[in-house]
Amino acid sequence: MRSLRTGLSLAAVAGSLALLFTAPAAHAADTPLRDLAAAKGKVIGTAVTGSKLTGTYGDLAGAQFNSLTPGNAMKWGSVEPTQGSFDWTEADQIVAFAQAHNQQVRGHTLVWHNQNPNWLTNGSWTSAQLGSLLQNHITTEVSRYKGRITAWDVVNEPFNEDGTYRSTIWYNGLGADYIANALTWAHAADPAAKLYINDYNVEGVNAKSTALYNLVKDLKGRGVPIDGVGLQAHLIVGQVPATLQQNIQRFSDLGVDVAVTELDVRMALPADSAKLAQQAADFKSVVAACVAVTRCAGVTVWGFADSDSWVPGTFPGYGAATPYDDNYAPKPAYYAIVEALGGTTTTPPPSGACSATYSVQSQWNTGFTGQVTVSCSGASLSSWTANWTFGAGQRITQAWNATCTQSGSSVSCANASYNGSVPDGGSVTFGFNGSWSGSNPVPTVTLG
Ligand code: G3I
Repeated sequence: MRSLRTGLSLAAVAGSLALLFTAPAAHAADTPLRDLAAAKGKVIGTAVTGSKLTGTYGDLAGAQFNSLTPGNAMKWGSVEPTQGSFDWTEADQIVAFAQAHNQQVRGHTLVWHNQNPNWLTNGSWTSAQLGSLLQNHITTEVSRYKGRITAWDVVNEPFNEDGTYRSTIWYNGLGADYIANALTWAHAADPAAKLYINDYNVEGVNAKSTALYNLVKDLKGRGVPIDGVGLQAHLIVGQVPATLQQNIQRFSDLGVDVAVTELDVRMALPADSAKLAQQAADFKSVVAACVAVTRCAGVTVWGFADSDSWVPGTFPGYGAATPYDDNYAPKPAYYAIVEALGGTTTTPPPSGACSATYSVQSQWNTGFTGQVTVSCSGASLSSWTANWTFGAGQRITQAWNATCTQSGSSVSCANASYNGSVPDGGSVTFGFNGSWSGSNPVPTVTLG
């Protein structure tokens, strides 16, 4: 049951009482996600940007997560922008932050077709040159962080949707065995690191995940060092594949670990309470699927706050894909992760960024006129219900601009046909007459 917390700000305005409601600013009393995950033997991680690891962002990254993945800092284009000239600044910073906060690091990523340096992609290389460039890159980077990286996304996104190999600089230049060689070179540089192949749209059982399954089976049969598969899980609200847990289980049965490596759940903007609730259910089912399978190592979210997500830049009109909003307030998805990790929430999830204000407009011997304003900021609603409990026997006698029902002391007012929509930055007001005797205290209103 969600409710808004009262800001306990009581203001008397021209003979009326107004009670303001604010969303919770923090959740300090709740057990951090990382403690809940650790109790289940799981990783809960986030992708991070090194330059942001201060202030609230740094506090949350350190307090809530037990694993960090550099979102961009370890990619080839970041670490070797000019051939032979390395820049490890951001990668080092993230690894140091993780060590200081007793966190794992997930290395991301050694072999990919994106975010490679121009000198590499624009060069004209023989197959032998390309193989040696790749071997040197892997050896240099894995050796640098030897003993400090728990798991590496060695190969990223090798497949097309139909399960054929993606045409890339690596496949085209080296053939399919670039994958086995990359794993072998990485293992030589850090034998203790867990080595993964990572891809998207492989969360459910489908042609692409089956190709990945067959590759892993083949690699294991050949004695190639492969420890796990990463399911990126860049999902759309309401579309968690029904076969997610079954898919995690089949890889696990093959003898490899599974990690959800880049979870986010995007929605068409603006967000509203229904979409945020569905998103929470989606986060919960993904985390629960991992918790249910022993060899699922854990879940990493691809940025923990909406203001740090890649989604709006890549899918215009979509966003709000992470567990915290733009201002680092936890969203319903955050509380859903808590619950999937076996925790209980001491702070009720806020109902997006919409809230209700109750005020007494006028009052006479036994009657009064009241008003409730539903307003949204940073979110919107397509329908609403305002609920409250009268504390002193008040009764609604008549309402306008909403349909109100009262049962005992409980009142529930639903929008009229014409005012269910509350846009971001907008508000809707309805009114009522009621009876009272003795006292007429202002109730707490929650939005449902
Ligand atoms: O650093 C430059 C900055 O100097 C410049 O001003 C700015 C202007 O566009 O671009 C900045 O680089 C951006 C970089 O992120 C760092 O913010 C790139 O344009 C942008 O394309 C790049 O996007 C990254 C994307 O991978 C590239 O494919 C995202 O941040 C990153 O989150 C995303 O991560 C990938 C995973 O590695 C693999 N799985 C999919 C996932 C999402 O695309």
